Amino acid sequence: MEEQEKLARFQERIDSGQKIEPKDWMPERYRKQLTRMISQHAHSEIVGMLPEGNWITRAPSLRRKVALLAKVQDEAGHGLYLYSAVETLGVTREDVINEYLEGRAKYSSIFNYPTLTWADIGAIGWLVDGAAIINQTMLARGSYGPYSRAMVRICKEESFHNRQGYEIIYTLAQGTPEQKQMAQDALNRWWQPAIQMVGPPDDNSPNSAETMRWQIKVESNDVIRQRFIDRTVPQAHAAGLTIPDDQLKFNEETGHWETGPIDWDEFWRVVKGNGPCNRQRIQDRINAEREGQWVLDAAAAYAKKQGKKQLTLTE
Ligand code: 3HC
Repeated sequence: MEEQEKLARFQERIDSGQKIEPKDWMPERYRKQLTRMISQHAHSEIVGMLPEGNWITRAPSLRRKVALLAKVQDEAGHGLYLYSAVETLGVTREDVINEYLEGRAKYSSIFNYPTLTWADIGAIGWLVDGAAIINQTMLARGSYGPYSRAMVRICKEESFHNRQGYEIIYTLAQGTPEQKQMAQDALNRWWQPAIQMVGPPDDNSPNSAETMRWQIKVESNDVIRQRFIDRTVPQAHAAGLTIPDDQLKFNEETGHWETGPIDWDEFWRVVKGNGPCNRQRIQDRINAEREGQWVLDAAAAYAKKQGKKQLTLTE
């Protein structure tokens, strides 16, 4: 069958809502887009542990420590789950991991900001996981079977992450004036990076044409961003906090919250590697890979002694 005919058949499958499975024929560009998105999603989950891990030993109570430990462990699991999903596309996790460690692949730029106070841990759960849930429940409707199924499982855990984050922020906001100010400062610092997190505006989103034609992304960046803003602004107000945007207003006609300008120069500055923590995050991950190599070597040696075939990270 000619390539054109295969493409037409493939698009019919996508348009009829069928799931594409690893062994199905797919255009190379479809495979490439999925490999890019899923691997970068996995890198984001792994790097996302670093800013939060910074507060595990300093959580203000045993209950908060246990919740944060559980969340960070969940993120590690999400990363490994997504590396397994990307391997169904014919790449190895070593290859994609080396890509981001060598600066050739991205991860979510929001994790290049520091967590300065305990309230930042609340802001990450509330805002970052809040945006992630809205984006990921959309991705769960995507056309590639392994990715959409991974999203269903991951979203269940994200809901716990989001609730525990909002509870931290809400509790601080009802506390002493100093605690309320800590929560407000965190919202001031994380609001813009959170509304940037689901990607550049639709008119400057080079991948969206393909990722939406092939239903990898079933809704656009701006639609997801607006849904996140509409959900989050009332939560801030319920906690007695102010969204750091003096142009924010509610449009009675559309039923949406309208923001002032979003700082896309800052977004691209951080995406391009010039955020406050980019270098530290990559160095931490390079160190972890190097210091953890003995575990892989030991497991491989044990497997060899047991007469099993050579263990690789993908098994
Ligand atoms: N951080 C870094 N880079 C970003 C970005 C962000 N927040 N948003 C977009 N970009 C990059 C894109 O990767 C792309 O660069 P590339 O072509 O080199 O990959 C470029 O900016 C243009 O963006 P597009 O809109 O054209 O790209 P997409 O169509 O892929 O849309 C996306 C961007 C919405 C992030 C989409 O890739 C996506 O939904 N990815 C899967 C979800 C994901 O990665 N989430 C990360 C958060 S994980 C997380 O929050 C963990 C939580 O549990 C704490």
